[in-house]
Formats: sequence, structure tokens, C-alpha cells
Amino acid sequence: MKLFDVYPLFDLNFIKAEGSYLWNDKNEKYLDLYGGHAVISIGHSHPTYVQKVTEQLQKIGFYSNSVKIPIQEEVAEKLGKISGYEDYSLFMCNSGAEANENAIKLASFHTKKKKNICFTKAFHGRTAAAVAATDNKSIIAPTNESDNFIFVPFNNTTALEEAFKNHEISSVIIEGIQGVGGVQIPEVSFLEKIRSLCDEHEAVFICDEIQSGYGRTGKFFAHQHAQVQADIITIAKGMGNGFPVGGVLIAPKFQAKHGLLGTTFGGNYLACAASLAVLETIEKENLLQNATDLGNYLYEELKDDPLIYEIRYQGLMFGIELKVSCAPLRNKLLSEFNILTGNASCPKTLRILPALNITKIELDAFIDAFKILSKSNL
Ligand SMILES: Cc1ncc(COP(=O)(O)O)c(C=O)c1O
Repeated sequence: MKLFDVYPLFDLNFIKAEGSYLWNDKNEKYLDLYGGHAVISIGHSHPTYVQKVTEQLQKIGFYSNSVKIPIQEEVAEKLGKISGYEDYSLFMCNSGAEANENAIKLASFHTKKKKNICFTKAFHGRTAAAVAATDNKSIIAPTNESDNFIFVPFNNTTALEEAFKNHEISSVIIEGIQGVGGVQIPEVSFLEKIRSLCDEHEAVFICDEIQSGYGRTGKFFAHQHAQVQADIITIAKGMGNGFPVGGVLIAPKFQAKHGLLGTTFGGNYLACAASLAVLETIEKENLLQNATDLGNYLYEELKDDPLIYEIRYQGLMFGIELKVSCAPLRNKLLSEFNILTGNASCPKTLRILPALNITKIELDAFIDAFKILSKSNL
């Protein structure tokens, strides 16, 4: 059997990783500024992470959600405290798409309505409802096409009001900061408008913090920069530092009922151990502050570079929009400087999503390489 060929791959085979570095099978060292799509939050092979997952595996690795799993409650309690959403409940699942799928479904169970508002350039995953809320026609299969998802231009308050006027809305789903869309930041007034329209029309405000959450932007959730509260918040990526885990934070007004949601693997012991390691480390190493400080440092160092059209960032979530396509720069960063970066749906935007405990010295290696390449003929 061969692999189903859906991924364009770099010719790299990593066999070891530590902190912000990876080593390939030729023992060549790479600097990771992308964390495999924003997943590596506390650094590769963090000692707390390795210890907690290993110790858990030596005790018990799996049983289904038909027995008590107290470590799930530990995760919920710690997550509630650190995120400021202490009175919310947690439903654990396995991925970002699954978290959004459950969020949209739960909203609809609650409101008994069908229509959902989503935004241009949005990415919410590849399962049925999540992909229908994603602004990329090429990944929506005919069976997932749905008129239950209404696309509204991002940051356009008038269009949002219109959509509420014309439809019975169950939910509005928006990323804390759009990631795949090129690090597009919602305006505070736009998030406030979503909140007030959802209240007025008894719709559910879903904030997808799958990429922008878990301290990436310097606050635990990106929408907390705007001081609005969402009714449902979805999480994944940084939550497990590479262990597949996702979750849905659910406001007290939602009524749980046995069988309403479910999963076989979600909330398993190992996923919980990984999640606890991440939360403990974020707290212990003060990573929200590091994300803020180093994000500002990176911005200051790059902001006047003539190759750059615009930098959109919050904490360590960066969209560096160049005046030209970013592919040649990305390729040279990789081939000449062994630095991994990301791209976005807009071809000129370079995405930088390093581990939250990256150091100044590590960022300096990127800044120096960027400046050399910016001066060269790309
Ligand atoms: C904002 C956002 N939501 C949802 C997803 C889907 O997550 P997953 O790939 O874990 O299903 C992603 C993945 O890139 C994402 O960036």
C-alpha cells in the first residue's frame, strides 16, 4: 500500500526535536518558526511534556468515556482558571475540525435554528460543518455544500447586520485571529458587534481559537484582547503540543444531556496528560509574557525592512506580508539557513508561529537571515 498523496512535501525527514530545533536524518539542525501549523506551543520534547505523557502511559493509556476519567476534570479545572472561563464546561475531542463541528452542532441544538454566519478567508477545518464554514471552495465536496453557511466580508459590520436581518441565525463562527487567511485580525468593534447581535437575536457566538489560542497572542485567547466573551470557544493545536487533542469550552447556559455529543478517543488519559503538561508549562514559564515581549521584539526588528508591505501580528502570531510572493524567500530560508516558516492563503504572506518559549537568540537567527535575503536578489 502507498500513501494517499494529498500533501506537497519538503524533502525532510526529522528524527529528533528539542525546543525550537529539529534534526533531520543527516543530523542537520533546523530552526522551527512554524511549529507544524502552530501546534508546538511549549517547544518540542519539553521535559515536562515527555515526563507527564510517559508516566501516564506507564499507568494507563486508554479507556473510553464510559468510565470516570478524573484527569479530564484536572484539565478542565486548570484550563478554566488559566483562561478566565472558570464557569464554562469542557468537552474534549481530538482535533480542531472536530471541535468546530461539535460547536456548530451544539449551537444549533440550543437555538433550534440552522443558519450560521462565517467570514471571508475563514478556515475552520475539513469535516462537514467545519469545511462548509471555510472560505475555500476547492476543499468543499459537493456533499458538504450547504446553504446553512452564510459568508460575510470580514470586519464588515454593515454586512453582518444585513445577514442577521435576512436570516434566522443559529451561530456566528469567527477565528480569534484568522490564521490560514494570512493573520487577519478582527477589529474590536467587529467582535463587539458580533456579541451584541448574537445577544439581540439569540444566536451563539463561537470563537475558533484553534490556532490563535493557548497564549499564542500574549493573552490566553486572542478574543480576550477585545474583552468580549464568546459563548463557545474551540481549541486544539497548541493544547497538546503535538499530541492530538481538541476541546470545546461551553457557557453555562447550554444544557448538557447524555448522548448529546460524544467521541471514542476524546479526553483519553494520554491527551489529558499532554494537555496538563502544556498548561503547567505556560504558567510556570510565564509564556504569555514571553509571547508578548518577543512578538514586539520581532516586529521592531523587521518593521522597517523594505521588502515588507505590512506586518500583522499579536504576540507570536505573525503574518508578514511582502511586496512580492513569499515562496522564494521561504524556500531560501529553508535551503540556505535551515529555517522553517509557514505560508498562508494569500501568496505574499509569510506566517511565523514559533513555540511560545522561543528565545531572542533564536529569533535573531531568523531576523539576520531575513535581512540578508531581503537585500539579495530573491
Ligand atoms: C483556525 C483553525 N480552525 C480549525 C482548524 C482545523 O484543525 P484540525 O486540522 O486539527 O482539524 C485549523 C487548522 O489549521 C485552524 O487553523
